[in-house]
Amino acid sequence: MQKREQRKPMVAGNWKMNASREAAQALITAIQQGATAFTAIDIAIFPSFVHLPLAEHLLKNTAIAWGAQNMYLGTAGAFTGEVSGAMLVDYGCQYVLIGHSERRALFHEDLTMVAAKLKAALEAKLKPILCLGETLAEREANQTENVIGMQLQSAIDAVGIHAFNQIVVAYEPVWAIGTGLTATPEQAQSVHAFIRKIFAQHDVVVANSMRILYGGSVKADNATGLFGMADIDGALVGGASLDAKSFLAICQAAEQTEIAME
Ligand code: PGA
Repeated sequence: MQKREQRKPMVAGNWKMNASREAAQALITAIQQGATAFTAIDIAIFPSFVHLPLAEHLLKNTAIAWGAQNMYLGTAGAFTGEVSGAMLVDYGCQYVLIGHSERRALFHEDLTMVAAKLKAALEAKLKPILCLGETLAEREANQTENVIGMQLQSAIDAVGIHAFNQIVVAYEPVWAIGTGLTATPEQAQSVHAFIRKIFAQHDVVVANSMRILYGGSVKADNATGLFGMADIDGALVGGASLDAKSFLAICQAAEQTEIAME
């Protein structure tokens, strides 16, 4: 297999609105202990806001990074219920998810809001994971590339192509999130290659070094097939990231695939 030049794979766990304080503590501890063997990949977890101090406490000075699932614009102000990028940095977050399809669909984040959040995250010195993806209706209407193209273009217009040196992209087909339906490795690879091609039209160096993760019902038993694809640089994992054994098995698949490619 050919090595993916310059791109270290990443496995990220999106916990969504899950885990009690006790469960969060147990899960972070188990992931931290199980992950010490991995050297070829980056690992990050995205617990709820309230668990971020716990993540900082348990993961500081380890190889595992943590981040938030969302943020708001600006550094401070009268925005009841919101959390700023500066606050996340204060709790040691390196990353933040931006534009997750649940934010887009359930909380009405449109292209303009996602672009503004992307910009605000970069201004706060966070590394955004920009989530993109088409719905089932859009895929069936052959609109996948149009939808992804639009989502990408509005992000590129907002922050400029070189900002993507700091951004990770996650392709998450909406129809595969939490449904148990995964895109086949070939389906995912074809969209990942399309995404990289769009970036290459702006800047080949950025395109080749940018990590594009796949998300949508990634499990230990489908991870290896996905990670073996040329343009799939890791995974954004939802449900399976809530169980340390499953999450670590996905990390192990990424680690093994990367070592096999070296
Ligand atoms: P899932 O979620 O793995 O549960 O499908 C992925 C995501 O929403 O990031």
